Amino acid sequence: NGGMCMHDEATVHYIDMIDQTTLGHRFIKEEFGQIPRIGWQIDPFGHSAVQAYLLGAEVGFDALYFFRIDYQDRDTRNGTKELEVVWRGSKTFGSSADIFAGIFPKNYEPPPGEFYFEVDDTSPVVQDDPLLFDYNVEQRVNDFVAAALAQANVTRTNHIMFTMGTDFKYQYAESWFRQMDKLIHYVNKDGRVNALYSTPSIYTDAKFSTNEPWPLKTNDFFPYADNPNAYWTGYFTSRPALKRYVRMMSGYYLAARQLEFFIGRSKSGSTTDSLGDALALAQHHDAVTGTEKQHVANDYAKRLSIGYKKAEELVSTSLGCLSESGSNSRCSSPTTKFVQCPLLNITYCPPSEMNLSQGKSLVSS
Ligand SMILES: *[C@@H]1O[C@H](CO)[C@@H](O)[C@H](O)[C@H]1NC(C)=O
Ligand SMILES: *[C@@H]1O[C@H](CO)[C@@H](O)[C@H](O)[C@H]1NC(C)=O
Repeated sequence: NGGMCMHDEATVHYIDMIDQTTLGHRFIKEEFGQIPRIGWQIDPFGHSAVQAYLLGAEVGFDALYFFRIDYQDRDTRNGTKELEVVWRGSKTFGSSADIFAGIFPKNYEPPPGEFYFEVDDTSPVVQDDPLLFDYNVEQRVNDFVAAALAQANVTRTNHIMFTMGTDFKYQYAESWFRQMDKLIHYVNKDGRVNALYSTPSIYTDAKFSTNEPWPLKTNDFFPYADNPNAYWTGYFTSRPALKRYVRMMSGYYLAARQLEFFIGRSKSGSTTDSLGDALALAQHHDAVTGTEKQHVANDYAKRLSIGYKKAEELVSTSLGCLSESGSNSRCSSPTTKFVQCPLLNITYCPPSEMNLSQGKSLVSS
């Protein structure tokens, strides 16, 4: 989706979704002069209507693609060719915020029929040297055509998408591309189907050009169950401390940015950038969700902490400047030092403690 990460849609605050998408899109715009047209949210654990209308249609996307919806819903849609829909995520905005949404028939992996080509995968490679005993071009073409026709059977219009990869693949990309090059070549020579390297944008354009009337979807795709008794609902509350930290930092970031605007963005001093980056990463569907391993959760928290430290300096300076009479937007080193207490959850705040024997606060500032 062109954000800094593929954000979660269930446990995030919508402001954080907007911020992390903005950061990513700004980077892409600066580097490549383009903004993505497609929301590629293939892995979050269920999907929200807010994603559809606000982070989809309102962001300017033409389509959203994903795969994790309730298994019973998927089975039904598979049977009625309703995996591809027009999603109306907002009752308020109605058809003005509709977006085309494509749900994959099974998952985001290659189609059934042995099309995995990582170096250590066991799918048969396309052997097109007729002098070798494992020559198998016709067989592999038939496998490909069968997979295409099976998917065409549950898909409206003549276009289907094969997602040729999955998590952790392309560690040696040539092993995939050699096979896909051959499959495309021999399948097109056979002529029963036409295969091409494509993109979600090209696919979406092909869908739009048919004038097919798509079924309408309203509301969320929550809760997500991928099997009977396998409901992905625990993550709404797991790792509550990390969730709280993200939410606290999110509010702090919003306030800090307003102060940053007020005193002007400093070129050399502290900014909110580091906190913005850390917060963006923390919206990942294996971050704020709590579905990551402990050492990964620690890494997210550490980045938030580092970002907070930098933002804290900026906030202290800004508050100092604001509180001093005669200060102006050029103020950079106020005499008043504001100290903040991030550990109030464990009732720890040195500036508020008194050393009664001397009648002084324990910290000089
Ligand atoms: C979708 O339906 C077809 C029959 O039309 C069936 O062969 C296929 O297994 C179904 N796919 C899934 C993922 O249920
Ligand atoms: C397509 O669906 C029809 C009707 O369910 C079925 O008879 C046919 O075998 C299917 N074709 C493929 C290639 O899956």
